[in-house]
Amino acid sequence: MKKKWWKEAVVYQIYPRSFKDSNGDGIGDLNGVMEKLDYLVELGIDVIWICPMYKSPNIDNGYDISDFQDIMEEMGTLDDFDRLLDGVHKRGMKLILDLVLNHTSDEHPWFIESRSSLDNPKRDWYVWREEPTNWESIFSGPAWTFDETTRQYYLHLYAEKQPDVNWENPDLRRALYDMTNWWLDKGVDGFRLDAISHIKKDYSNMPNPKGRGYVPAWEKMTDVEGILDFLKELREETFARYDVMTVGEANGVTTDEIDEWIGEKHGVMDMLFQFETWYLRKPDEPCGVNVDALKGVLTRWQEAAQGISWNALYVENHDRSRIVSTWGDDKVYWRESATAVGFMYFFMQGTPFIYQGQEIGMTNAPFEDIVLYHDVKTLNFYRYKKAEGMAHEAIMKMIKMNSRDHSRTPMQWQGEGYGGFSTSKPWLDLNPNYTWLNVEAQRQNPFSVFNLYKQMIALRKEKEVLVYGTYKLFKTWYACVYAYTREDEKEKVLILSNLKDELCAWSPPEGAVLLLCNYGAEDPYSLRPYEARVYQLKK
Ligand code: GLC
Ligand code: CA
Repeated sequence: MKKKWWKEAVVYQIYPRSFKDSNGDGIGDLNGVMEKLDYLVELGIDVIWICPMYKSPNIDNGYDISDFQDIMEEMGTLDDFDRLLDGVHKRGMKLILDLVLNHTSDEHPWFIESRSSLDNPKRDWYVWREEPTNWESIFSGPAWTFDETTRQYYLHLYAEKQPDVNWENPDLRRALYDMTNWWLDKGVDGFRLDAISHIKKDYSNMPNPKGRGYVPAWEKMTDVEGILDFLKELREETFARYDVMTVGEANGVTTDEIDEWIGEKHGVMDMLFQFETWYLRKPDEPCGVNVDALKGVLTRWQEAAQGISWNALYVENHDRSRIVSTWGDDKVYWRESATAVGFMYFFMQGTPFIYQGQEIGMTNAPFEDIVLYHDVKTLNFYRYKKAEGMAHEAIMKMIKMNSRDHSRTPMQWQGEGYGGFSTSKPWLDLNPNYTWLNVEAQRQNPFSVFNLYKQMIALRKEKEVLVYGTYKLFKTWYACVYAYTREDEKEKVLILSNLKDELCAWSPPEGAVLLLCNYGAEDPYSLRPYEARVYQLKK
């Protein structure tokens, strides 16, 4: 397997709106990120992925871009960006951007032109139809919106204000590649490719919408035949010319497609975020994870990539609720379960991603009232479910478990003021537990989630086997224990995570040396609730 800098890296994802506000307007910004770079160095981070900070009317917090080559006012300026990039590089880290190629804002000049007349040269840069289909948008409601000016419908897989660009048009593609290269020439170190499995659509046999309501049309808009031709061209025209890393948000791509998508020889990008672990829990089911199902999914991805490709490892991001509140137990075993889930995914083969706040075990927000929510997906969901006749309580139950706002509450730096995030009221309320759950408190405690994450990162850096070694599922008697080994010619390491509130009889193999544990002293006969350990095994 080829060695690469990005295989050895640990990535930290920043949602800049909620990370650190530098000028007291309640909104995180680029200078705020700058202020916290040394914190990321302290944690041991190598690469920062920053979510969109481009010019945007902000209906989807920056994923609706009106100018790809400028910075949104609230975030700062292009000069601030250049200083940030420089600050990251000076500290020996790298910076990757979120590249949104599936859609723009309806306020992007391209769309303004496109919608202006039927024969505008940019008409075909977006998708226009006389008759819409009954496709449902990923953000609820119809995926087509009628536009008065030309009396046609345009397509938007996401919000109404996020029209999809038309990848079938070569001029549009060229414009996207030029924009991408502009950032690469500035010196950014790669991209996370937003919604990339949706860029091609299948318009054949479009169903007649009349009288049928809106239905999910997943196969028409996800990983559609021919998408790899677009992605190959994208790669050749941009990334392939630079030493950068790329990771695609690739909902719907399966382990059978690993070679074509991310194979070392033929792949169109370096890594992808698989979505299968999201679907292990239904949106209206209570917390907890089926550990056997989890072992099945993750082991399949590990084995399929072994020797030919590379995994992106993650349990949180800005679109998911907090992991300690979904797979863990954010009440009784908060500290233990936050770290047990951490141990479980962090030492697999692949590049680990940590989402801001995950390293201190931030939890879902206890927001009861819909007015406290901000996310466009959540609010659309509420609106359309209500219109379909679902009861308020039933909708709120799902929102309280799954809203994207749970991961977007401001970063909890300290216990007073506005959590050290800002000097004024933040754009989205803080989770009230910031008074005790914060960076400052955890820095001082050697067994805190923060300090365990720090040790996990350090251990991965110290042992090459934890980067390149082969993954193998390790059988124990307990379904709730996720255990696996990593092995190379020289070393063998065992990772165990008890992912339930159960006591499991277990003794370490002879000669095993404990490297890391999320409980104080080792118990030689059992794994306690949510206990996780890493052992060096005799080889
Ligand atoms: C991706 C992003 C999400 C955004 C959507 C539309 O799924 O992660 O936050 O809303 O694309 O750009
Ligand atoms: Ca600000």
